[in-house]
Amino acid sequence: MLQIAPSILAADFLRLEKDIQLVNRCGDVIHLDVMDGTLVPNISFGFSVIDHVARIATAPMDAHLMVVHPERWFEKIAKDGVQMCSFHYEAARRNTSRFIARLHELGLKAGVAINPDVPVEKLFPYIGKADYFLVMSVFAGFGGQKFIYESLDRVAKLRAEIGKRGAKAIIEIDGGINLGNARAVEEAGVDLAVAGSSVFGAEDPAAAISALRGA
Ligand code: DX5
Ligand code: ZN
Repeated sequence: MLQIAPSILAADFLRLEKDIQLVNRCGDVIHLDVMDGTLVPNISFGFSVIDHVARIATAPMDAHLMVVHPERWFEKIAKDGVQMCSFHYEAARRNTSRFIARLHELGLKAGVAINPDVPVEKLFPYIGKADYFLVMSVFAGFGGQKFIYESLDRVAKLRAEIGKRGAKAIIEIDGGINLGNARAVEEAGVDLAVAGSSVFGAEDPAAAISALRGA
């Protein structure tokens, strides 16, 4: 079954507690989008919000760092009790293995994220090292964008390569996930789907999560 990580970026920030409790109750993972306005053309939120979320989170937290120099924040993220942390390959390049090792040292699950214009093969050297791969299905920076269908091929290629090497890794997909593509992403080999607007924009977010899961 597809696991669902509702993205807090689309939550109601005036009633954030209500939305976090909903994810605790009905979601699998709390997805936290951190943007710096440099790696991506938008600024979201930082530790002032994550510290608060951490106080009431019972579901595992997943920090998606869309920032340059992500390694500056690994320690603080670990202190907040975040379990999964991904950084962008575009921000790490030749430091990718070192950043994965540092996250492991801090007791975190390490994820490597890529934007749609980065060849998926760039992730292959980290199979067997990273715990998960975050394949962006829109360009990182904004919620509510349209799903890029070529992402399905990218996921399938990555899933096949992980299988070929007899390795283990979770594939997470992020951007434009809704009921119209959830089954296709699952079939392509995704384990964990991030969903922002299709969950928090729904009339009944709890029902939207179970529909996306396919339960
Ligand atoms: C985009 C973020 C996503 C975003 C997804 O850069 O990484 O996590 O919140 O939002 P939707 O599901 O609305 O595309
Ligand atoms: Zn994200």
